[in-house]
Amino acid sequence: MNIILLGPPGAGKGTQASRLEQQRGMVQLSTGDMLRAALKAGTPVGVKAKAVMEAGELVSDAIVSALIGERLDGLDGAGAIFDGYPRTAAQAEALDVLLAERGRTLDHVIELAVDEDALVERITGRFTCAKCGEGYHDRFKQTAVAGVCDVCGSTEFKRRPDDNEETVRTRMAEYRAKTAPILPLYEARGIVARVDGMADIDAVTQQIAAILDRANAPAA
Ligand code: AP5
Ligand code: MG
Ligand code: ZN
Repeated sequence: MNIILLGPPGAGKGTQASRLEQQRGMVQLSTGDMLRAALKAGTPVGVKAKAVMEAGELVSDAIVSALIGERLDGLDGAGAIFDGYPRTAAQAEALDVLLAERGRTLDHVIELAVDEDALVERITGRFTCAKCGEGYHDRFKQTAVAGVCDVCGSTEFKRRPDDNEETVRTRMAEYRAKTAPILPLYEARGIVARVDGMADIDAVTQQIAAILDRANAPAA
């Protein structure tokens, strides 16, 4: 099964993708994570993307589609969870080709419907473990022991440079202008399911599970 998690910045794409990885053995393909890794490693792609990401604008379609193609080749049989990709009509077209070339189909586009006003708070409160990458939030997902990662015990955390209010507003505008318009394309194929992304994290996970399991159930 291959699915897209679609939603604006802070909608919970990364949070839910990492749960699907743990619970279902699917693989999260986050172009944001790939670009941040490239940036950290100082590759040509990372160098090119840095200023664009810091401004909250979109990196070129060719760069991100190439990253996705490379990662799809390493998946073997595992299902893919596209997180933060596709983000433009050109990327949606590229994804169709990338999947077809590999004999994969796109089974679901799960739209995380959220109230934009809440997103700034979600994003400015976000932090992750510097060692294992587990995601947290100042209010919505605190560590069990203050200052210690629940998963690996590390005491070092980090915040994304693009997680400030001004950049978030640009990221949201980019979403509205370039990403939301690709939804009708998938609606026409009958593969879009909408979940309430304002529910708490566990409830969102349950809504997604219901969609994937319902779809998997043998026809009566
Ligand atoms: P990317 O990394 O994809 O960022 P984004 O789309 O802005 O999305 P976020 O990662 O901010 O949000 P999320 O939905 O994953 O939320 P999360 O689960 O963390 O992209 C970054 C940049 O890279 C882009 O701006 C662009 O420059 C570039 N880029 C990436 N892909 C590209 C592409 N395809 N084309 C061109 N450029 C590209 O949740 C947020 C917080 O809220 C967390 O702290 C979490 O704990 C909390 N939270 C989650 N769910 C809930 C809930 N239900 N209730 C309460 N709190 C919650
Ligand atoms: Mg994310
Ligand atoms: Zn950790």
